[in-house]
Amino acid sequence: ADHALRRAARLIREVPDFPEPGVLFRDISPLLADGTGLGAVVSALGRGVEFDVVAGVEARGFLVGAAVAQAFGTGVIGLRKPGKLPVVADRVDYRLEYGRATLELPADTLCAGQRVLIVDDVLATGGTLGAACRLVRQAGADVAAAAVVLELTALEGRDKIMGETVRALLQA
Ligand code: PRP
Ligand code: HPA
Repeated sequence: ADHALRRAARLIREVPDFPEPGVLFRDISPLLADGTGLGAVVSALGRGVEFDVVAGVEARGFLVGAAVAQAFGTGVIGLRKPGKLPVVADRVDYRLEYGRATLELPADTLCAGQRVLIVDDVLATGGTLGAACRLVRQAGADVAAAAVVLELTALEGRDKIMGETVRALLQA
């Protein structure tokens, strides 16, 4: 399994100066496009975690989250950016590196007491994953774990998600 993840890591492309000058962007698209790579990350994200449903964060967390849900036999909930959902159960506003953002939980999806595996592609400053955890807790559900493919450790985003189990398959 470790070997599969190391091989998957080599499929991440590093793009200088995206989305702005000075930023080194890690693009996991080539990894997700590789069947073996996708399989390795999907099984590693859910392995050993007890969960009833997956919550994937828009947009790249949808791809990985739905695959994890299917592999482990659960359903999937999309945590969405504002203005997309017809009926919203709850929303959380949070701070980004520059500016603010919002995540919304669709109505009639998450039940109190459910154990939720939150899935996203990348943990950067931690604002997004932290907001996803709050949304789940506000619904009376439990965060089984917050799991990402790649953690950008220099941004110390993990520190924003204290009190929850954070699983990162790869670090850069
Ligand atoms: C990226 C990434 C995470 C988030 C991480 O999403 O997919 O969701 O940023 O950043 P943070 O830890 O600093 O909050 P982005 O907002 O680019 O949206 P996208 O997936 O729709 O492209
Ligand atoms: N890659 C993908 N998503 C991101 C990154 C990155 O380097 N930084 C913040 N979100």
